[in-house]
Formats: sequence, structure tokens, C-alpha cells
Amino acid sequence: MELLDGKKLSQQIKEEIKLAVIARKDNGLKVPHLAAVLVGNDGASLTYVGSKVRSCEQVGFKSTLIRLEDSISQEALLSKIKALNSDLTLDGYIVQLPLPKHIDEEKILMAIDPNKDVDGFHPANFGRMALDMESFIPATPFGIMEMLKRYRLDISGKHCVVIGRSHIVGRPISILMSQKGNPGNATVTLAHSRTNNLEKLTQKADIIISALGIPEFLKGDMVKEGVIIIDVGITRVADENYPKGYVIKGDVDFKDVALKSSYITPVPGGVGPMTIAMLLKNTLLSCERRAN
Ligand code: GUN
Repeated sequence: MELLDGKKLSQQIKEEIKLAVIARKDNGLKVPHLAAVLVGNDGASLTYVGSKVRSCEQVGFKSTLIRLEDSISQEALLSKIKALNSDLTLDGYIVQLPLPKHIDEEKILMAIDPNKDVDGFHPANFGRMALDMESFIPATPFGIMEMLKRYRLDISGKHCVVIGRSHIVGRPISILMSQKGNPGNATVTLAHSRTNNLEKLTQKADIIISALGIPEFLKGDMVKEGVIIIDVGITRVADENYPKGYVIKGDVDFKDVALKSSYITPVPGGVGPMTIAMLLKNTLLSCERRAN
């Protein structure tokens, strides 16, 4: 079993981005600028956005954190989006999800300028990705593909079972895994909460990508020997034995499944850090594309 070390790989990618920023500066070019909009005080969202802003600093990007009250109206948030769309200093921005219940998430995501949509959530980017055109690929699926590429894992012709059909992870990764190219060319089954006999599928899978959000759902007896496991789950489970009062769990029962895997991502330290690195990558790409 070999660990797919997302922490190490993401540091390497950040180092490359940092060098690209230095080269831009040396050539008198603009430094990439990312903004993050955070509505409310959700603990996990605060952690993620904090981490995104810190990562910007590490690679030499300019970053702006926009914190808005939980009670903000949809109209007021839409005007903020409009202002960000016309802010010429910005290369990209994200609106951290989930949003409060009274706000229509789809309406907000649709209002983001696709050319600044470094999360790749706008239908224009999603459609372009599905058609193999230049786009912004959502950071988590982008991170998984980059990880497969850098570890030189051959997935061509292999059977990949994706568990979870979310717009952010499951749906896009199912498209990317089956696209022509390397990495790609996999045969993909997209499983979800209504799938019958899931374990019959996972037991045959060469690669399993789990983006379900149920801690330790995937057990050793559900996978075959030699499987490649990509665990996208990051659920906080209350546990008083830890200083923060919770522990982060993936979708995979690691100790059992690792014994049968050829490669496996740990949680934490697997897909999570890759997501942030690829958001930075998208921001750099946006900055470069704007200059062209
Ligand atoms: N919430 C959970 N993951 C993400 C993400 O990748 N981007 C944004 N904007 N919100 C999220």
C-alpha cells in the first residue's frame, strides 16, 4: 500500500505557483488576486476560507476576505457579486458554500462572471469542462486528477466507481475520469444514495472515489485487493478526546481498506490540501488568461 500524500504534493504545487508569481513580478506583470466571500459564521466554512486566504499569502498572491452577515438579503449579496464582477483588480473570487437557507445558491452562482469563477461552479464552466474546452475545473476534482497524474497512476480502461453525485465533486469527477486523455479514459459508474447493491459495484472497482460525507462508510469487505482509493470525505465527528472537541473522518474506514489498497489517500492530508492548491492554480490561470 502506498499513501497518496496530498499534503506533500500540494506543497510542491504551491512552490511552483510561488515561483510563477516571482517570475511575473520580475517581468513587471500583475500579481494574481483572489477574493473569498464568506456569509455567516459556520465553523467549517471559516476554517476552509481561512486556509484559502493563508495559502494565497504563502504563494505571494493578493487576497481579499469579504465577510458578510448571516442576515444579508439575496439582493444585497447579488449587488456585492456585481461589484466583484466589475472589479478589474480581481482575477477570481469564490463564494463559500453553503449559503444561508434564505439565499438561492443557484441564483448567486449564476451571477458570478464565468471568467472569474475560479471554483468552476458556473454552468458555462461546467459545460465547457464537459465538452473538453478550456474552463475552470472545480478545485476538488481538479486536485484528484492532478494527484493521479503526478503519481503516474494508469487509470486508462480501468473501472472507476464514484460514490456521490454532488455538483462540486461527484458529477464533475465522473466526467473528468471518463474524458479522453491521461489521466482519463476510465470506465465510470456514478453511484449515489439510490444505487442498488452498491457493494457489488465497489467490490469490482479498480478505483473508488468516495464523496459521500458519511464517516467510515466504505469498509474493507466492500473493496477488492489492489484497489485505488480516493477519499473526498471530510466530516467533523464530535470527540471529546481531541482538543477541538471533534476529529475529522473520511468516508473510508482507513485501517481496514488500506490493507487491501494499492494506493489510498489519507484523511486529513489527502484530497483536502490538493483542493486549495488547485484553487490557487485556477487563480493563476485566470490571471494569465486575462493578460492574453
Ligand atoms: N464548500 C465546500 N467546498 C467548497 C468549494 O470548493 N468552494 C466553495 N466556494 N464552497 C465550498
